[in-house]
Amino acid sequence: KYPSKVKLVDVGPRDGLQNEKAPVPAAVKIELVHRLQDAGLTEIEVTSFVSPKWVPQMADNAEVMAGIHRKPGVRYSVLTPNMMGFDAAVLSKPDEIVVFAAASEAFSQRNINCSIAESIERFRPVVAAAKARNIYVRGAISCTVGCPYEGEIQPERVELVARLMKDIGVQHIGVADTIGVGTPLKVQRAMEAALRHYAINDVSGHFHDTYGQALANTLAALEMGIWQFDASSAGLGGCPYAKGATGNVATEDVVYMLQGMGIETGIDLDKLIDAGKFISDFLERKPNSRAATALLNK
Ligand code: HMG
Ligand code: MG
Repeated sequence: KYPSKVKLVDVGPRDGLQNEKAPVPAAVKIELVHRLQDAGLTEIEVTSFVSPKWVPQMADNAEVMAGIHRKPGVRYSVLTPNMMGFDAAVLSKPDEIVVFAAASEAFSQRNINCSIAESIERFRPVVAAAKARNIYVRGAISCTVGCPYEGEIQPERVELVARLMKDIGVQHIGVADTIGVGTPLKVQRAMEAALRHYAINDVSGHFHDTYGQALANTLAALEMGIWQFDASSAGLGGCPYAKGATGNVATEDVVYMLQGMGIETGIDLDKLIDAGKFISDFLERKPNSRAATALLNK
């Protein structure tokens, strides 16, 4: 019933760190990426090429990308909201770019300063330019079950944005519960909406854990055959435009669950916990992962 293999994208260096107030040195971000790839992660979302005025923590994007010793077989992705971001990102040779829209108009305005329709027009040339260079294009849809400004979001909104993304050539769609308000059946409905326009192999889940539902939501998506998920080592994170929302589901917790279910991830949990401990130590806090906490105290 469940997929035999799952691919995890660690978004900790980007989604995890983007909201940290104190600057995290590029060297620390690079070390985190190295530890994640050593732990067996094959997909790492490294940084974003967004306005440094909006998200100061990601201002060192090019420096971080340049400092990574790339491991064969690992793919490195970056966020690019517009052509300016894409033109800067391309110099860093990402394997994949991410254009990010929202299922909620209000969130689109707060996050990227434009309407959903305008965002699609900004992405259109980005997608074309990426494809011309053989760079894979992933799309993210924020607020697919709930929005901090609009409240509950209906699946039709998700379906609409998925269709718009598909129309401009976005190759994969990530269904995000930005503020972690989703519960399993609502998440399944958001997933179904995306699946009307994308094949099962081209859809992933991105769950924040604000209400402690992210693992349940992951399981609900797995039951549908979804086998790709974003997660953040040590449960780092939060979105600057989604006040009160906590980090993504901890990669450690997802790996622990999948291992227990006999689902292959290729990830070494002990090394992953070390990676999460490394960044948590730097941030002077405990890893926000139940599995990491349990295993570190063993
Ligand atoms: P804007 O102000 O509408 O852009 O911002 P603009 O084109 O009008 O330009 C205004 C200024 O920004 C200009 O500079 C541009 O050069 C500069 P100025 O002349 O004032 O000095 N600018 C840029 N600088 C660097 N890189 C760029 C860029 N574009 C313009 N790419 C923009 C539009 C999207 C840039 C802005 O709103 C922004 O940066 N927003 C931040 C978005 C962000 O990073 N959000 C967090 C990531 S999304 C997320 O976390 C959700 C996700 O995890 C899924 C989920 O959980 O939901 C993916
Ligand atoms: Mg996110």
